[in-house]
Amino acid sequence: MHFRPLLLAALAVSGFAAAADDPNVPAMMEKYGCGICHSDRETMAGPSWVDIAARYRGNARAAAILAAEVKKGVHGGGPWPMPPLPEVPDADTQAIVRYILAQQR
Ligand code: HEC
Repeated sequence: MHFRPLLLAALAVSGFAAAADDPNVPAMMEKYGCGICHSDRETMAGPSWVDIAARYRGNARAAAILAAEVKKGVHGGGPWPMPPLPEVPDADTQAIVRYILAQQR
């Protein structure tokens, strides 16, 4: 699948405020199994959404970076890698990523 950083960045800028609390996101996370390894506030196998949001606060490219990580997987500082989840449709990934980045402590 072709990755489009410019499109993602444009969506991040234009859509951030409107869709940060998309009510469909919890059901999407359930469907794709994100909650097996992540939660809003608690570190599980993966970092909590609030920790991720705090880490990327002020980063204009955050939405594009996180969307790419969901698609391709990532192994950063943690003990376990994030598995690649290419089956998640781009539109759903973008809604999920906006939700994650909107989390506040
Ligand atoms: C099998 C466990 C597992 C599942 C399922 C999983 N993740 Fe992760 N995720 C991780 C781990 C572990 C990391 C940390 C990887 C690292 O940095 O070493 C991570 C990292 C991330 C990051 C990157 C955080 C950063 O700081 O860059 C994002 C975004 C993310 N996950 C979103 C998701 C979403 C959205 C889903 C569901 C579509 C999901 N994850 C499903 C384990 C999982």
